[in-house]
This record gives sequence, C-alpha cells and structure tokens, in this order.
Amino acid sequence: MKLLAKAAKQAQRAYFQRILVYRFTSDSSPLRKGPRSTGLECQWFCASSQEIFSTVRRLVEVRQNFINEEEENALFKELEPGLRKKRYEFDHWDDAIHGFRETERLQWGDVCEGVLRRVREVAFPKGSSLLGPVHVLDLDKAGYIKPHVDSVKVCLSSTVLCVVCTVLLFFMSVFVSFQFCGSTIAGLSLLSDSIMRLVPENNSAEWVKLLLSRRSLYILRDDARFKYTHEILKDEESFFSGQKVPRHRRISVICRNLPD
Ligand code: OGA
Ligand code: MN
Repeated sequence: MKLLAKAAKQAQRAYFQRILVYRFTSDSSPLRKGPRSTGLECQWFCASSQEIFSTVRRLVEVRQNFINEEEENALFKELEPGLRKKRYEFDHWDDAIHGFRETERLQWGDVCEGVLRRVREVAFPKGSSLLGPVHVLDLDKAGYIKPHVDSVKVCLSSTVLCVVCTVLLFFMSVFVSFQFCGSTIAGLSLLSDSIMRLVPENNSAEWVKLLLSRRSLYILRDDARFKYTHEILKDEESFFSGQKVPRHRRISVICRNLPD
C-alpha cells in the first residue's frame, strides 16, 4: 500500500511536468555568483552575454504588478486553507523541488476567476486550449526549485483520476505519449519576490535571470520552456544585478496550455 501511495505520488509529480536536469555547477562556480556587470539588464531581465540576452528576451516576459494587493489577498484567502492542511516536503533529495507543498484548482471565486481570465488573455494565443486545473505551488522560505525542464509528456489532471488510474497512466506514459503540454506557461507570484534563472541545456556557462517581483506575472514561451532549464533560487543565492532579493514564502499560481 505504501508502495502504491509512493507510486501515485510520483505519478502526480509527473503530471506537474518535471524532468530534473542536474547541472554540474558547484557552489563556488562563477555561475552561482550573480550577474556580471555587462549592462545586459533591464528592470526584470539580466543575462550573461549579449547573445543569450537577445535569444531569450523575446521568449520571456515579466509583467510587474499584474495583480493588485486586493487580488493577491483574494487568491491567498482561497488557497491558504487547503495548503495549510498539507506539510511542506523537504525530504525527497531527488525531487526537483525542495520545501514545497502543492495543489491544483479548477473552481475559483469571482475575483480570482477575473484574475485568471486576464492571465489567459495576455499569456496564451487566442483560442488555444488550456489545461483545466491551475497548478498552485507553495514554497517555504527555505524552499527552492532546482534546475529542470518541464516534461511535455502526459498532461492529465491527477484530481480527475483515481489513484489506481494515475499509477496505470504513469506507467503507460513511459511507452505512449498520448497527450502533450503546450508551448506556454504563465505564473503569478504571490507573497515574495524571487529570481528565476534559465540556463541553456547545451551550454551551462550561460544564463539569464528574471526578477519575479511579488504580484508579477511571468510568461515562458516555446524554446524558453524546452531548451532551457528553469529554477527558482534559494534565499542565499537570490541576487539580481548585484542586489539581494530576499526570498520569503512564495506561492505561484501557474497556468499551462495544451498543444494546438
Ligand atoms: C514547476 C515550476 C515555477 C514557479 O512547478 O515546474 O517550475 O513559478 N514552477 O513556481
Ligand atoms: Mn517547471
């Protein structure tokens, strides 16, 4: 039974699209030491070189203050009771995320529904099909997301499926990729600023950083999703343009689309 529960959990995590890609960057590597002063920066975007700046800049977007405090409160109020019932998970050394709890949500109150409608309008091409449930990820202050590329295989809601189905589908998905996730991901950041770092899968010496300010919306499109790892830096590493960006507890509300 324990084994089954574990497998179900793994399947659920597979649903949330993670393939971990560990990179060989030690803590003393220059990659970990914040941006160099190359002038390759805007308010929320900085890069290790002109080349990666130009390539990635058109694939990513951060809209600061996308929601106001009232809307942030409304989202928090809807999410907090459910999240509080779960414990932060710290002990899975091989997981992509350290110090997190998560949920998904299909039904929202009016204010939140309005916010999500706006997210969909700005982030996704008109008429594109969206993944029904919205993914909610709550990172503890000590939590962080390691570099990974979202898996494009098997986009099925774990809520919709019973545990046994989830396990079966997980194993089936190894052989048959019958559903793919789309090319865009859009995330709201609640409660804290944070830094998202993207690194090309084929060149770990380059990077870009996005400053995800509290109440901002970020959008990653196309190659930014598939050819770069993304991560949310831990508090100790959370620097942008030489400035410390303190990481507190952070909740992200993430919308994804389905393929055309
Ligand atoms: C993920 C992820 C980013 C975020 O859940 O795969 O990368 O903003 N989340 O929480
Ligand atoms: Mn991800």
